[in-house]
Amino acid sequence: MSSNSRIRCSRVEYHDQDGNGMTVLVEQVMNASYGNYVWPSSLVLSNYVWHHRKRFSDKTLLEVGAGTCLSSLALAKSQPPSHAHLIMSDLAPILPVVKGCLSLNKMDWSDHPVATSRHWVQELPWGDLDAVSAVTRDVEQLWQTKIDFILGSDTFYHPPDFEKLLMTISIVIQRHNPQCRFITAYQERSSKRSLQYLLDKWSLCCKQIPIDDMWFDDSLFFPDDDSTDQDAPADGGQIPSRLTTSYSSLSSVFLLEISAKPDQRA
Ligand SMILES: C[S@@+](CC[C@H](N)C(=O)[O-])C[C@H]1O[C@@H](n2cnc3c(N)ncnc32)[C@H](O)[C@@H]1O
Repeated sequence: MSSNSRIRCSRVEYHDQDGNGMTVLVEQVMNASYGNYVWPSSLVLSNYVWHHRKRFSDKTLLEVGAGTCLSSLALAKSQPPSHAHLIMSDLAPILPVVKGCLSLNKMDWSDHPVATSRHWVQELPWGDLDAVSAVTRDVEQLWQTKIDFILGSDTFYHPPDFEKLLMTISIVIQRHNPQCRFITAYQERSSKRSLQYLLDKWSLCCKQIPIDDMWFDDSLFFPDDDSTDQDAPADGGQIPSRLTTSYSSLSSVFLLEISAKPDQRA
């Protein structure tokens, strides 16, 4: 870790209109590699997952490019307790970040696929056919189920990786479960970027999920004018600061559902 890196623990709070609420803690390494940081997209996706937790609670989910794995944590810590099977995946050097965030939230996990654990942490480099085939095989053999949903927040970050990611998604859908959906929060960084050509190439289609203020109150993530939250270190004993971000970054996030083309979902 570079000498100017700082580890900061922050809290992300979830509330619904029925008065239910929950807190997830995340550990971020500031000024470090991009998996060690909570990206605005993950606030949108994790709120979507938490508010729609009944839809996911008995399903099998694979989070790709998980980083601080906020969306998986939001589901795993939800009440009533989720029975979801969760695989949190990323590149090997980022897996300690995933595990650190799971530990911070007192979650159990296994770092290799076993039938007895409902939470696995898994290396999964996009575009690696053997790696994704091993994951789907383990899910079928050990959990005797199929992946229902893939989650990814800010995974369309680096354009040369877009095709590797969509190839991975396409393999899960076409060789494992044609009903599987990839729900992804996409931050638009350039209007010149488009996924359509790659979606067509990998026989996928995409629809936008409206970001609804019934389930996403962006004002919860803006800094208070008089707050010192943003700079508060959270080392031992202090209440972790509330995670904040800017209006402009949240307003450039879109939520997408990518699936097989309708005639290929049988
Ligand atoms: C912009 S970060 C988003 C992290 C996290 N999902 C979030 O929203 O806070 C992109 C993530 O994708 C992962 N990633 C980048 N390239 C990848 C690849 N080729 N295969 C697998 N994961 C990759 C990074 O390690 C990182 O965790």
